[in-house]
Amino acid sequence: MKRRLVFATNNAHKQEEVRAVVKDKFEIPGLKDIGCLEDIAEPGETLEENALIKARYVKEKYGFDGFGDDTGLEVEALDGAPGVYSARYAGAGHDSKANVEKLLADLQGKTNRKACFRSVIALIMDGKEYLFEGKINGVIITEEKGSAGFGYDPVFMPDGYSETFAELGNDIKNRISHRALAVKALCDFLENRQ
Ligand code: IMP
Repeated sequence: MKRRLVFATNNAHKQEEVRAVVKDKFEIPGLKDIGCLEDIAEPGETLEENALIKARYVKEKYGFDGFGDDTGLEVEALDGAPGVYSARYAGAGHDSKANVEKLLADLQGKTNRKACFRSVIALIMDGKEYLFEGKINGVIITEEKGSAGFGYDPVFMPDGYSETFAELGNDIKNRISHRALAVKALCDFLENRQ
């Protein structure tokens, strides 16, 4: 029988991404599939804390092994901001457009445009906790370019490319992204498990 690992998310896109890499080896239900309809809060001050909070929530409330994730954009000239607060950089209730505008405003006049996207996955399995990370370095350009993707994609240009994530499109992005690398690290680990 296939082993079950709950992915503590209701984001269908993220679930597909993980299922595509894990293939048939594990069954990966999401939160809805286990009857969890509430949003899990993300009160942590680091990506690692938030990823662990999600995995622990599933274990403690529902009794299942599984994993949670959290992602942030870390900008060198802003001392790592927006980081764990990436989704609400412009304040609670603001959308991606407002977040991107605030980021460009905060970086106005700064010559150091270095940034990275970092994704952390926390896994709880057989009574142990594990952390996996995926990271991609790049720069924040001065104006939005491209229409694919989401969030900060129109202003993030990965190192080695002359287009933003939003111009490169999902096929290329999903091969090289922070999330893809974190998922791969998780899957490499699971590869040797049953
Ligand atoms: P989450 O933890 O994956 O929900 O990501 C938190 C926030 O980081 C999102 O709301 C986005 O603002 C930003 N973010 C995460 N991943 C990406 C990405 O691949 N491209 C652009 N922005 C992202």
